[in-house]
Amino acid sequence: MKQVYMDTFGCQMNVADSDRMELLLFHSGYARTANVEEADLILVNTCSIREKAEQKIFSLFGNLKPLKRNNPGLVMGLTGCLAQQEGEVLLKKMPYLDFILGPDAVERLPAAVERALSCREPVVWTGFDRAKNYAIPEVEGEGPVNPGPSAFVNIVKGCDKFCSFCVVPFTRGREKSREAEEIYAEVRRLVARGAREIVLLGQNVNAYGKRGLDKPVAFHELLYGVAGIPGVKRLRFTTSHPRDVTRDLVRAFRDIDALMDHLHLPVQSGNDRILDLMRRGHTAREYLDLVAELKSEVPDIALSTDIIVGFPGETAAEFEDTLELMERVGFDSSYLFAYSPRPNTPAAEFEDSVPEETKRARLQKVIDLQNRITLANGGKFLGREVDVLIEGRAARHGAHFKGRVPQYWLVNFSGGEDVLRPGDIVKVKTEEILGHVFKGRYAGQSTPNRQ
Ligand code: 5AD
Ligand code: SF4
Repeated sequence: MKQVYMDTFGCQMNVADSDRMELLLFHSGYARTANVEEADLILVNTCSIREKAEQKIFSLFGNLKPLKRNNPGLVMGLTGCLAQQEGEVLLKKMPYLDFILGPDAVERLPAAVERALSCREPVVWTGFDRAKNYAIPEVEGEGPVNPGPSAFVNIVKGCDKFCSFCVVPFTRGREKSREAEEIYAEVRRLVARGAREIVLLGQNVNAYGKRGLDKPVAFHELLYGVAGIPGVKRLRFTTSHPRDVTRDLVRAFRDIDALMDHLHLPVQSGNDRILDLMRRGHTAREYLDLVAELKSEVPDIALSTDIIVGFPGETAAEFEDTLELMERVGFDSSYLFAYSPRPNTPAAEFEDSVPEETKRARLQKVIDLQNRITLANGGKFLGREVDVLIEGRAARHGAHFKGRVPQYWLVNFSGGEDVLRPGDIVKVKTEEILGHVFKGRYAGQSTPNRQ
């Protein structure tokens, strides 16, 4: 088999796209290698959500360029959101690339590789697919790797929210949902191959089913459907928008045992003027009311979020509102970012008036606050027995396995190495906390397990 080396940047969508590309290439005679030197094909699946991600990719390609000089037969392609955003421009910057494919062209990857091998004219395929809804055709036959205990399933792609800072509606296109039956069939296949946890994916996952489906199914109904598939022990989804959280969804958290008590719910800011400029479509109070409703229906629910500091025009007092909201909600963890302008977005036209230094200082403040809250929240689990789905061997010295609790905290634990295997759900006694990670010791099988 020929060898493909793949590098993936960015979100879970990109990871899922890379898995898909690996599968398609496997059926075209390519096996994945971790050694870039021995590759016949190099793929970089890129992200353009923030400036930093983009810079990383350019410096990576700087390192790859000499490989092509040494091996003219080497095929090199760039895929993902940066490809979509920049298209032809990238070819001018990196003329040694053989193809540039946007996220909607993943299925055409084998054709792009073939073309690169037969004629050395580079291609740029960045058109959006025109189909009304979103389908991922099944690939018959064995795949290169079995899914792990936790498997991702794309259910909706694109985003129609057009938050003023965000490039996703431009790189991933309009929101389109997959037919529920196709999703159920993929979940059944994954479970048959060993998956125990299903993570439903979408840039705006809880906008699922709003339109375009031949057989309309609402998002909460899909959750009941997936949870009802035998062998699905745990169910999660990401990433959600507060505006698409319905009462039915809150009830689903309460009523579906397999739906884990964790919700990633980006808030971005705690200030109403900034939220309005960001075009989030809700106020801080509305977000807090939603959180109160979730907590009253599902007392054990853990929340995490995304926050941007230093949005254009954000004053010191407006930033304080974000700190206050973080304290009030008590997020278990947060992804925290300093604002950077992105091409084509409305906010890129606003005056980027917050100095870089101030952005950095604000970022440090939210990081420090989140660390404090994380530590305090983790204390609730310390010294207790928690249920852990084993996801694999622990990389850390002194622990045998790693896995997650329902509330999504990572656990490294020792013990049970002769009897346990990835996919088991076990009891672990937590002993120590380090950031958003526990260290613990195996404390016995959990029920239900292995059936
Ligand atoms: N600047 C900083 N952070 C951003 N994000 C999206 N766009 C930008 C930007 N222009 C963050 C948001 C989003 C997460 C995936 O990335 O918080 O939820
Ligand atoms: Fe971007 Fe907003 Fe859509 Fe999230 S909801 S992907 S932040 S436009």
